[in-house]
Amino acid sequence: MEYRESDYESRYTSTEYTEADADVEISLRPKSLDEYIGQEKAKSNLDIYIQAAKMREEALDHVLLYGPPGLGKTTLAGIIANEMGTNIRITSGPAIEKQGDLAAILTNLSKGDILFIDEIHRLPRTIEEILYPAMEDYALDIIIGKGPSARSIRLPLPHFTLIGATTRAGQITTPLRDRFGVVLKLELYTSEELATIVKRSASILDIAVTEEGAFEIASRSRGTPRIANRLLKRLRDFALVKGNGSITSDIAKMALDALEIDPLGLDNTDRRILRAIITYYGGGPVGLETLAATTGEEAVTIEDVYEPYLMQIGFLTRTPRGRCVTKLAYDHLGIPYTEAKGAAGQASFFDDTDES
Ligand code: ADE
Repeated sequence: MEYRESDYESRYTSTEYTEADADVEISLRPKSLDEYIGQEKAKSNLDIYIQAAKMREEALDHVLLYGPPGLGKTTLAGIIANEMGTNIRITSGPAIEKQGDLAAILTNLSKGDILFIDEIHRLPRTIEEILYPAMEDYALDIIIGKGPSARSIRLPLPHFTLIGATTRAGQITTPLRDRFGVVLKLELYTSEELATIVKRSASILDIAVTEEGAFEIASRSRGTPRIANRLLKRLRDFALVKGNGSITSDIAKMALDALEIDPLGLDNTDRRILRAIITYYGGGPVGLETLAATTGEEAVTIEDVYEPYLMQIGFLTRTPRGRCVTKLAYDHLGIPYTEAKGAAGQASFFDDTDES
C-alpha cells in the first residue's frame, strides 16, 4: 500500500463540485449556446433540436448528457432551459430517496418544464421505474391500497423534458437509456478552448490575465473548465502577492509549481497512480480494483476522474487484461522504460469493458 504524499494534494485538480466553486460557477455560467465555448458537436446538434421543438411548440425530447465530471453538464442543462424559455428543476439521483420524492417533483412540473437529474445512474432502481411511464407516456402510475384490494391508477403528467447527466452512459440501465431521444457525449476540452474560457471568466471576475498566463492555466487544467476556473481564482492571489496583480506566464508557472500541478496538469494523485502501476505491476496490466486497493483511491474515482485525462494524453491504456502505463508516462516521470507485459490493444474509455 502506498501512502499519500499529502491529504489535500488534489484539492485544486479535483473535478468534484465543492461549496467553494458554487459562487464562481454560478456567476460564470454561460446563459446561451452562443456563449458556451467548446463541445461543438453536442452544441450544433442541440441547437437543431431546440429550434425544431420551438417551431413545433412542443417540449424538447429527453436528453442524456454523459462525460467526465466538471465539463459543464449542469451548465448545459441551464442553457437548454434558457433557450427553450422554460423553467428548470434541478435534482440528483442520490437526493431522491423515495418513490414519493420523485412523484412529488413530477406532479409539480408544468408543460415544457425541464427536470434535470444529475448523477442519474445513482437513482435507485425502484425509483427509476417511475421514470419509464413518465418519460414515455407522460404518466404517473400509483398504487392505491394494499393486498388484494390494491389498484393502480394512472395520473397524467404535463409534457416535460428530462435531462439526465451521468459520468458514463454505460452506468445507466438499458431501459432508462433507451428512453432518451437525444444522447450527447461531452468531451474533455482542448487547451485552446480552455484558454478562451479562462479569459472569459477572468473578464467577468475582473482578474487581469495575459494571453500566455491564460494558456498556462488552460494547459494544466486536465481538459476541465471547473479546474481551470478554480486555478484562475487561486492564481489571482499569487499574482497579487508575488507580482503586480496580473497573471502572467511566469506567475502562472510559479504558482502552479507551488500547487504541485505539473506542466501537463497532473497532480500528486495522477502521479501516484502511474507510479503504483510501474512499481508494483511492472507497468501493467493491472485490474481496476487491485489498483484502487494499492493507491487508496476508490475504483469509480480512478475510472471517472483520473483515467479520462491520463488516457487522453496517452499515458494510460485500457486493455482487456487491465490498465497499462505507456512509455510516454515513464518518460514524463523520469523512470527508465520497460515494456509492459500486456500493453497491446487499447479499448475506449466509454466501452465500459470490465477488466477489474
Ligand atoms: N464555464 C464553464 N464551462 C464553460 C463553457 N463551456 N463555456 C463558457 N464558459 C464556461
